[in-house]
Amino acid sequence: MTDVADAMRAMDLRGQTHKYSKIYDRVPIEKVLRTPSETAVGSTVIVGGWVKTGREAEKGALLFLALNDGSGPGNLQVIVREDVYALGDLKTTGTSVVVEGELRAPPESAKGQAIEMHATKILMCGKCDGAVYPISKKKQTLEFLREKIHLRPRTNTIASVARVRSALAYATHTFFNQNGFLYVHTPCITQSDCEGAGEMFQVTTLLSEAEKAESAQPAVKPEELDAKRAEVSECGSGIKAMKESGAESKDVKKAVKKLDNLKQELLEMERAARKIGGIQRAEDGAIDYSDDFFAGKSYLTVSGQLQVETYACALSNVYTFGPTFRAENSNTTRHLAEFWMIEPELAFADLNDDMQCAEDYVKFCCNYLLENCYGDLEFFAKMYDSTCIDRVKAIASTPFGRVSYTEAIELLEKAVADGKKFAYPVSWGIDLATEHERWLAEEHFKKPVIVYNYPKDIKAFYMRLNEDNKTVAAMDVLVPKVGELIGGSQREERLDVLERRMAECDLVPEDYSWYLDLRRFGTVTHSGFGLGFERLILLCTGMENIRDVIPYPRWPGNCIS
Ligand code: 4AD
Ligand code: MG
Repeated sequence: MTDVADAMRAMDLRGQTHKYSKIYDRVPIEKVLRTPSETAVGSTVIVGGWVKTGREAEKGALLFLALNDGSGPGNLQVIVREDVYALGDLKTTGTSVVVEGELRAPPESAKGQAIEMHATKILMCGKCDGAVYPISKKKQTLEFLREKIHLRPRTNTIASVARVRSALAYATHTFFNQNGFLYVHTPCITQSDCEGAGEMFQVTTLLSEAEKAESAQPAVKPEELDAKRAEVSECGSGIKAMKESGAESKDVKKAVKKLDNLKQELLEMERAARKIGGIQRAEDGAIDYSDDFFAGKSYLTVSGQLQVETYACALSNVYTFGPTFRAENSNTTRHLAEFWMIEPELAFADLNDDMQCAEDYVKFCCNYLLENCYGDLEFFAKMYDSTCIDRVKAIASTPFGRVSYTEAIELLEKAVADGKKFAYPVSWGIDLATEHERWLAEEHFKKPVIVYNYPKDIKAFYMRLNEDNKTVAAMDVLVPKVGELIGGSQREERLDVLERRMAECDLVPEDYSWYLDLRRFGTVTHSGFGLGFERLILLCTGMENIRDVIPYPRWPGNCIS
């Protein structure tokens, strides 16, 4: 090799140093592993990461480290000699290390790796006591890792999930951006219940205020109230007597003013008497929210749809992507109390446009993963679900099935007649259970299927009523492994029909007057859907439990960290 070739090689990998890691001029491990070995061999680089495994060899003279920095699923093998560093401090799983070393081709006998590093200098080491480190070498269950939530990103599984999650978020923004959608930030706190299911977390400062209350007793005692009432009554009688005896008008005026003041005092005392345990009550006994932070009952949002509709009805194509919250007591592998939802909203678009958009978006995400996260998909295929890559490929390339709700029920009824056993009975009008959804997607269609035109009685108030007066222009995308991935609809754009539907659903029109304004002023055919982001990750990775595909899962009884 010439000096020039050496210099070129060094340049190649130096160009890969992380722009924001100047402190060490560190090269991400994924970059090292991806560099063709004929280029990489011979160069000296610096990497940093956490020790996955440390294995001593040659009677403690040598240490083999598997080092990972999260830049990809692959580990870099680093060989450290005892004259370079105290090997005992380095070898424990979880130790952090920054190491400079020369990249060399491994011996023929070392299978499966194209490059290894021979350490020349340890620039930093953060020791990790293996005796107390909660996630040391041996395989941990996913349940156990949920209790060590702050350390679980150190595991291969949660790190792969994190990369897939980030890639799918990026794919989402790319897809909508490329298709002319504007990203709109809808609020987390709202006073409207979009889905009308009453599964909202209340947002209030009243309870913390109540906790500060010095006494559980009202500030005003009943006898004080009686005394004030007597004073008001006496003052009133006095005025009456003054008028009857023809007292001077300026004296009467003075007494009336006094009476007004007394009445005001009485009102305030009566209100204070209704503050029980630090919580203000209205006259009818209900909690008085006028004292609350937002001067009204407020919640965490279950969906950004209603608010994003206001932007669609001005800017045509928009989407929101943010956290949503549901206080449903569902302890299942498909439900979280806090999950992320992507909600596009399309103006001048009907249910068919909506279904096409949903299908194209899911396909785009699958293709993006195949192109950008193949190593992670291979990891999931090897460790969790051998069918995951084939499934992602199939979804990316095969048209989704489409079937009306009525036809879907007929298919399910036929399956039951042919001997299929479901836990929940099937008949027209039911809300499909996960077992029905999965049967349709997994066993009947064997691919994603879009079910449309659901009975109005099982769907939300905002969905457009069909001509039959029985069904609404709703659609759900059902997928293998998961069941419902997407729920959407064409929106009811006719003011009178929407008002009727709201009345049927016991909603107070005044609470939604801003939403009705969209129908009053320049109404337009529009449609949208919501995709549960964690369910998309389940679909693509084959992970079984939704609690393992969000960094900090929240479910009933659990809000760790
Ligand atoms: O079907 P949903 O309730 O639809 C809506 O919220 C509409 N406002 C969306 C719209 O049209 N803009 O919820 C949409 C999706 C579901 O299909 C499911 O994937 C996911 O959100 N989802 C959940 N994911 C995790 N945990 C939960 N508790 C979920 N509830 C719904
Ligand atoms: Mg739904």
